[in-house]
Amino acid sequence: MSTPAAVLTGLGAYVPPRVVTNDELSRRMDTSDAWIVRRTGIRQRHWAEPGVATSDLAVEAGHRALKSAGAEGSDGSDGIGLVVVATTTPDQQCPAVAPDVAARLGLGTVAALDVGAGCTGFVYALATASAALVAGYAERALVIGAETFRPFLNPADRGTAVIFGDGAGAVTLRRGTTDEAGAVLTVDLGSDGTLKDLVGIPGNGSRHRSTGRPPHPDEQYLFMHGKEVFVQAVRRMAQSSTTALAQVGWSVDEVDHVVGHQANLRILHAVAGELGLPEERLVRHVDRVGNTSAASIPLALADATERGRLRPGDRLLLTAFGAGLAWGSAALTWPGITLA
Ligand code: UT7
Repeated sequence: MSTPAAVLTGLGAYVPPRVVTNDELSRRMDTSDAWIVRRTGIRQRHWAEPGVATSDLAVEAGHRALKSAGAEGSDGSDGIGLVVVATTTPDQQCPAVAPDVAARLGLGTVAALDVGAGCTGFVYALATASAALVAGYAERALVIGAETFRPFLNPADRGTAVIFGDGAGAVTLRRGTTDEAGAVLTVDLGSDGTLKDLVGIPGNGSRHRSTGRPPHPDEQYLFMHGKEVFVQAVRRMAQSSTTALAQVGWSVDEVDHVVGHQANLRILHAVAGELGLPEERLVRHVDRVGNTSAASIPLALADATERGRLRPGDRLLLTAFGAGLAWGSAALTWPGITLA
């Protein structure tokens, strides 16, 4: 029986032009191409130039998604009614990035908000927009995952500086039904705040500012307890994937592609192992962009689309994990999307 659902209609991606190779990083810090490739699968990442912020990348990706959907126009009233931007690295503490992005895309005075769920941000934003569409609060939505991590990377911390990259990916959604190709069929979300100190950017929030003590420069950088985060990432993405599959009634064998958060190739392989999923069904993009946090799933979707890997009607499982801790998975069918 078909029921109301959000349906994907467009897809866009943008990475800043500057490519930073492992060899370039090896000249700046005590690391090597061999270590980075062996431990993470990353070969290069893109970094935004000084002065470029997350909203700039989000506008580029959003513009491409709107073009892909054929929905671009200046009148938001009969087009996009909601913009959700998932980011860990907003332009500033306040205001949110999304209203600025909506205005710069010519979408008018639409509803616009940011979602902060670390590397799981895109799945949380997709869930937020899907729920709003199904509830009838909007007819169409633009969901963007965008990050500018370079300014938050501590050059003295090789455990994070080699991992993260900048970029943005976006999808457009409209109100439709579950029997349409492109329908978001289910979402599973979760969090564990008792492990909030495993990964984050602690400086500059109300906790630090209320003390009157300026944050130490190190507190304004991203920190990560890599090994513990790795273990949690595998466990939570595997569990959440299993829950989402049970909710939608698919067996692992019925999934055509798993688009996992592109944090580390070893994590993706371990999740596939836990699920009993053949590794060739994993979508891999981390080698070319590194860990782009909330942008990683839509960037991987765009790359797989560009390579002709995703066919209309294919069954996709998205799964993500990150700071919070927070995790989430979504099951959907793939529509006939053409990149702009
Ligand atoms: O995006 C959402 C959340 N993030 C993740 O899911 C990331 C999860 N974690 C990871 O992907 C991995 O833990 C890392 C890639 C961050 C690190 O890999 P690891 O295999 O867990 O390495 P490690 O931190 O245990 O370090 C192993 C060794 C250490 O040396 P000793 O103590 O064995 O002498 C590190 O000092 O590797 C060293 N090391 C490096 N060596 C060369 C750490 N980083 C580097 C580096 N280059 N960049």
